[in-house]
Amino acid sequence: MIKKGIILAGGKGTRMSPLTKAVNKQLLPIYDKPLIFYPLSILMLAKIKDILIIVNKGQLDQYKKLLPNGNNLGIKISYIEQKKPRGLPDAFVVGERFIGKDNVAMILGDNFFYSQSLTNKLIENTKLKNGAKVILHKVQKPELYGVAKVNKNNKILAIKEKPKKFLSDLAITGLYFFDNKVVKYAKNLKPSQRGEVEIVDLLNIYRSKKKLTAQLIGRGGAWLDTGSIDDFYKTSSFVSAIENRQGLKIACIEEIALNNGWITKKQILSLIKFYGNCDYSKYLRNLIKK
Ligand code: TTP
Repeated sequence: MIKKGIILAGGKGTRMSPLTKAVNKQLLPIYDKPLIFYPLSILMLAKIKDILIIVNKGQLDQYKKLLPNGNNLGIKISYIEQKKPRGLPDAFVVGERFIGKDNVAMILGDNFFYSQSLTNKLIENTKLKNGAKVILHKVQKPELYGVAKVNKNNKILAIKEKPKKFLSDLAITGLYFFDNKVVKYAKNLKPSQRGEVEIVDLLNIYRSKKKLTAQLIGRGGAWLDTGSIDDFYKTSSFVSAIENRQGLKIACIEEIALNNGWITKKQILSLIKFYGNCDYSKYLRNLIKK
């Protein structure tokens, strides 16, 4: 079982400037909670309790105010600074010591997932022993994404970053599961023309060894990459529509910890104190009333 997860939560945030000049993108709100809660909740739903958050140099204090060390959620959160945004596979170089000899999951700090039976799907992926697995989702404009062509057994046959000619309409999302070789492979990658190491190059190493598989989020699910201001607002509207209709929150990390049996109702009380008098606390109070 994969027990370790990395959230890559640094980045330049160029597309969202000036919003991201003083505050990291992952700390900005998606409706009623900071963006970082969403990828964190995905790892927690996968029952991953040992989590490394990679942040930009100088931004550690901001994050620690919000998510100190995970104790209050029954998990372990550690942090490491990335000197500069060198590219997605850099997560495995920066995170080498954290990963140790284990397999690891990685999620981009700005990715949003919502789907029926998501928990079961996630847990399925943590069973990966060797090779790598990516999550794919159908998109209307594949030319804007890294895409993958799969066979009927969900083995990946080809991948391409922002293909000009149609290859597939399945985008590679920002959630990945890797065996321990990822550290070695990531270290050997050379930067591309834009000066970053590329996730597609890393995945291609696994593909060339026939060790890259995929899981699809079906049409009942949503994947949103909140990289631009427009996407940010769209994702906020999506969360607001679902939460207000159902009265259930998406990515309430305390609720997930409670459901997983990682914290007690008493611990929720101290979290209510931490957040203060707000709607989020009201929701937490309702959780422990039942
Ligand atoms: P991107 O969306 O590729 O980049 P970005 O967030 O810096 O935004 P922009 O393109 O507008 O400049 O990154 C995806 C996620 O990964 C995002 O949450 C930031 C994070 N990231 C890092 O933490 N380190 C890195 O080296 C890179 C490339 C991204």
